[in-house]
Amino acid sequence: MDYDSVSSKTVCVTGASGFVGSWLVMRLLQRGYIVRATARDPANMKKVKHLLELPNADTHLTLWKADLTHEGSFDAAINGCTGVFHVATRLDFAFDDPENEMIKPTMNGLLEIMKACVKGKTVRRLVFTSSATTLSSPQHQNAVVDETCWTDVDFCRRAKIPGWVYFVAKTLAEQEGWKFAREHNMDFISVIPPHVVGPFLLNSMPPSFIFSLSLLTGNEGHYSNLKKGHYVHLDDLCMCHIFLFEHPKAEGRYICCSHRATIHEIAKLLHQKYPEYSVPTKFVNIPEDLEIAHFSTKKIEDLGFRFKYSLEDMFTAAIDTCREKGLLPKAAKALTYGTTD
Ligand SMILES: NC(=O)c1ccc[n+]([C@@H]2O[C@H](COP(=O)([O-])OP(=O)(O)OC[C@H]3O[C@@H](n4cnc5c(N)ncnc54)[C@H](OP(=O)(O)O)[C@@H]3O)[C@@H](O)[C@H]2O)c1
Repeated sequence: MDYDSVSSKTVCVTGASGFVGSWLVMRLLQRGYIVRATARDPANMKKVKHLLELPNADTHLTLWKADLTHEGSFDAAINGCTGVFHVATRLDFAFDDPENEMIKPTMNGLLEIMKACVKGKTVRRLVFTSSATTLSSPQHQNAVVDETCWTDVDFCRRAKIPGWVYFVAKTLAEQEGWKFAREHNMDFISVIPPHVVGPFLLNSMPPSFIFSLSLLTGNEGHYSNLKKGHYVHLDDLCMCHIFLFEHPKAEGRYICCSHRATIHEIAKLLHQKYPEYSVPTKFVNIPEDLEIAHFSTKKIEDLGFRFKYSLEDMFTAAIDTCREKGLLPKAAKALTYGTTD
């Protein structure tokens, strides 16, 4: 079979080597899609081996070299696809110039993907992995947050809230995306996840676990992210992407969040389930009675999507996968992020 010919089942996944991207590729392959997976360095086996080992990869998966910071880089991978899942983003914070190294590249990267879709003329729908950081900042949050909410980027810049660069980058990128979609009459959908937790295919610790597993690793600097947390299981998130891609009536933004929990609730869950890790249960300066905003999932649930996993499922799958891969010791009094025993 010629996998480069236009097929109604050919889709492109950007950031395919990553935590979310690789699980999405796995689920797409299971559903019979022909997947073009992009990576900045497809020859780097450390980054792509887990993709090549997936069931159906030998017949249904091809790797394409593309970089969000290079103009026209995605044209070849996208031309001929009927769908694109734009998952890639820069997630590290090792930069000197936030505007030029993070904010503009995140916006321009999405616009590059959108231009490639327009040029190729074969893409029916583009699904963008946005982030709950586009909905509101924890400092400015309504009691109920829905898809009409947008983060105040001027406030984030001014107040320099923790992680402000990521809040600004993802919000401006999604807003630019909507503007481009309207101007070019594109079928564009955004999926908006909070913290994503669950099992994973990578052979290294998913970058976002620096926040999600900070109670295990004792990384106190990240406790503020868990204080009033919102969560979704990785598998629910990826199935939601596919559901929205396939649903004829899907349109606009969709919050994809199944649970909310305070740091105290997560600490209790982890402490009971994994007593061997000495998870702290008392936090100086974090009050017991925290009010957490409700992220409304009415829109996605009204369309027919159902979340399958519990909060416990997310954390046990994440921790058990880390242990199986030797990324967390089986027991420890004090852990350091990403170390092995
Ligand atoms: N994880 C979470 O808790 C969470 C929560 C909310 C939203 N999200 C969103 O979910 C998406 C995926 O996040 P993730 O957790 O899977 O992160 P990840 O594991 O770091 O994956 C991101 C991927 O993006 C690719 N990438 C980075 N810079 C790139 C560039 N300049 N050009 C092309 N590709 C580039 C990298 O692939 P290569 O190195 O192979 O090129 C990397 O594998 C992101 O859009 C993120 O904003 C994640």
